[in-house]
Amino acid sequence: MSDFYVTTPIYYVNARPHLGHAYSTLVADALVRFHRMQGENAFFVTGSDEHGDKIMRSAEKNGQTPREFVDAISGEFRRLWPELGIDNYRFARTTDDDHVRFVQKILQRVYDAGDIYFAEFSGHYCYGCERFYTEKELENGLCPQHLAKPEFISEKNYFFRMSKYLPWIKSHIEEHPDFIRPERYRSEVLAMLDAGVLEDLCISRPKSRLTWGIELPFDTDYVCYVWFDALLTYLSALGPLNCEDFKRCWPGEHLVAKDILKPHAVFWPAILKAAGLPVYTHLNVHGYWLSRNTKMSKSLGNVVDPLEMVKKYAIDPFRYFLFREMHFGSDASFSEEALVGRINADLANDLGNLFSRVLSMTAKYFSSHVPQPCKRHEADDAIVELCASSMRNFTQLFGKIQFAQALECLWVLVRALNKYVDSQAPWALYKQGNMERLATVMYILLAAMRKVALCLWPVMPVTSCRMLDQLGQTADVKTPPVPQINDEIASFEGLYAGTEVAAQSNLFPRVETEGASEVKKAKPKEQKAVKPDRKQVAPRAEKNDEGTPADVLPEIDFEAFKTVDMRVGTIIEASKHPDADRILVFRIDFGEGAPRQILSGLAEYYTPAELVGRQVCAVLNLKPRKIRGLVSNGMVLTALQDDKLTLIGPCTEMPNGSSIA
Ligand code: MSP
Repeated sequence: MSDFYVTTPIYYVNARPHLGHAYSTLVADALVRFHRMQGENAFFVTGSDEHGDKIMRSAEKNGQTPREFVDAISGEFRRLWPELGIDNYRFARTTDDDHVRFVQKILQRVYDAGDIYFAEFSGHYCYGCERFYTEKELENGLCPQHLAKPEFISEKNYFFRMSKYLPWIKSHIEEHPDFIRPERYRSEVLAMLDAGVLEDLCISRPKSRLTWGIELPFDTDYVCYVWFDALLTYLSALGPLNCEDFKRCWPGEHLVAKDILKPHAVFWPAILKAAGLPVYTHLNVHGYWLSRNTKMSKSLGNVVDPLEMVKKYAIDPFRYFLFREMHFGSDASFSEEALVGRINADLANDLGNLFSRVLSMTAKYFSSHVPQPCKRHEADDAIVELCASSMRNFTQLFGKIQFAQALECLWVLVRALNKYVDSQAPWALYKQGNMERLATVMYILLAAMRKVALCLWPVMPVTSCRMLDQLGQTADVKTPPVPQINDEIASFEGLYAGTEVAAQSNLFPRVETEGASEVKKAKPKEQKAVKPDRKQVAPRAEKNDEGTPADVLPEIDFEAFKTVDMRVGTIIEASKHPDADRILVFRIDFGEGAPRQILSGLAEYYTPAELVGRQVCAVLNLKPRKIRGLVSNGMVLTALQDDKLTLIGPCTEMPNGSSIA
């Protein structure tokens, strides 16, 4: 079997590492851990991009030689990753000798194949981007990235025949729907290819202008363009072409933010194809972390230092927050308030409280030993079933890089376990002397908590190990072989009666809100959509009791249509109505703070478990309706065909609360 291999961007060393760099690298770490739990060998490559104008200028500004400068900042990146609990990676530098030789080998190969040519060229050169822009690419004569006027330069340079590969790239993207994901970035690249603005790529810089780069093997008066050099790190970090690691790992996949979509979606596949190498499998593109609702920048003073956050709140709560808060692909806002909110609600109240109360009860009722369970009741079966479905949903969503939704599915289980404690009331069973029933309830809780702890290993590795330790599972996760998540889904058992567990637990102390620093003043939750002001609610044809459309619908004008508040939301809990066979009861997150309860006649067509994590479209400003004792605060949209109702959702993942028009 081939290894799972993923890369982060190779970060520029002209700035110190911040939250954005940390996020990409944490995602790589979590994906690697997740794939190891699927029985694969897995690791990732990260590193530092050290050549080019930008670095040279930053070094000059600092009064250092480029070498001194890159050594210092590259060291900061390298030292940061272990502090964030990041593991299983190689750190590559574009100034490493092996990498330099590798790049020269590929340049020669592409040159010999006739795909690099020499030509006189005049163009608009942006020093910030270190590249030429064509007239068509400029926006009002300015570089679209830096909003600065590029310099018009005329010089002889080497060009890579990228345009030759554009039709192939387009058909590859069309034939492989998840080559670039999420979908919105795939569409963006296809639109870019269709716009016809892409030309051949200038891949050299004359030494008269820049010396800090890799010398071209076929002309010593030139150095290589920094992107051609940096992208090849993804291969050079594996060793020489066709070495054992190369064969096991390539093609791998990449992880980048939207800022560097084009070089990864266009330049890189073209370079690989020209060098006769297989193209990568997936390009996973995430959005930006915003701070005070804008992109982080030194001059705005809103850069979030991940180390500062880790020192203040510990590694795992910080990691949890990043994975839970950002919907992969969309931008997300960082604020200490939001971080503290998650720590106190999800971690201290839900997860930490569960561990604390169950372990102290086990200490009291069974001297801290896992009891032998007896006959299960219906409520126990429901938990066992929910445990499997939550883990299945978690695994599927995590594999599809939908981390926030995956964690939400796991929290459905965590919250259900807390409710199960309340409904089964172990303290009452103990008082009644009903030790058989008490043993079963405590076993169910402890066994399900072990599953939660295992699932959390990719996101919160330190806490996952602590939780497993507290459950007497010293051999799990820390020591290979890593437990296999699919086996764990298949069987609820896995925790043995008689195992000694901790007498108490305090995993996530609550954080007091005072004393958070400057950055916390950022506004919370960028993703929450603002409701439009819709004062007048016009009558609209409703669905009848069967959920089918009424036969005759009156024509309405646009103003009337605008009064219907339709939104996208994610189902975070689904269950059968206790009193109506055909009705499902949903709790749906519309980004409103608390989830909404909506009822729908879908029980014949879907099981509750398969809908958790799904995004739906719903009408929110419908008058609340009571159906057999439960209130529905809105209506999910469905389509009807051949007597079957199908839920309607957005084609690509959207932030919860996005309005539909
Ligand atoms: N050196 C190039 C990449 C070459 S890859 C062969 C580069 N470096 S960079 O230091 O600017 O890193 C950009 C990457 O850092 C983004 O793609 C993303 O992974 C991460 N982030 C930097 N700022 C970010 C945010 N504000 N939010 C999220 N991630 C961002 O481009």
